[in-house]
Amino acid sequence: MDQLEMKKIAARAALKYVKPDTIVGVGSGSTVNCFIEALGEMREEIKGAVAASKKSEELLKAQGIEVFSANDVSSLDIYVDGADEITPHKAMIKGGGAALTREKIVASLAKTFICIVDSSKQVDVLGSTFPLPVEVIPMARSQVARKLVSLGGSPEYREGVTTDNGNVILDVHNFKILNPVEMEKELNNVAGVVTNGIFALNPANIVIIGTPDGAKVIE
Ligand code: A5P
Repeated sequence: MDQLEMKKIAARAALKYVKPDTIVGVGSGSTVNCFIEALGEMREEIKGAVAASKKSEELLKAQGIEVFSANDVSSLDIYVDGADEITPHKAMIKGGGAALTREKIVASLAKTFICIVDSSKQVDVLGSTFPLPVEVIPMARSQVARKLVSLGGSPEYREGVTTDNGNVILDVHNFKILNPVEMEKELNNVAGVVTNGIFALNPANIVIIGTPDGAKVIE
């Protein structure tokens, strides 16, 4: 079974957590695109969605789902998003699609973070297979890169990419993130860093893994 099929299985299984008359938090990426397509079937039952990227916003509207601003809601019942890596402790690396800051903002509004992934995203230690994305204010790019090197990483400027917030991304290779909570806090404190792609302070609550044998749910 190919990865897209596994993403679709995970995405569809997340529908059971969507409650009628609620506004759903929606992340971004190819797995979330599958979720948005499935969510279209519930357009009459839900109030709408808050989107973590312009791309997701467009796709939600194309499904006939009303999109609200994060400023319009005080909390969300659920937030559904993918991940680039996820550990057994439900800590994640996110930001492969450069939407990490808005994802963290919308995720923090939600009571329950539901992470939908195919089985290739499971790791024991964050940083094992995927470089850590860090969103940086453009004028601070070089100094943040030097700081990341001093912490043992090898940052690479993601050329040609500007985030929805007008910033740049440094992808940090060679970080073995053994203590994700501490690392997330430390990187958040570097001047010029807007967000780092570690989601450990507020990890996922429910993980749905698409596998050839169906959806495996870890609650
Ligand atoms: C977007 O910035 C990311 O955080 C995505 O959630 C993550 O990259 C997973 O993407 P896929 O669902 O495309 O694998």
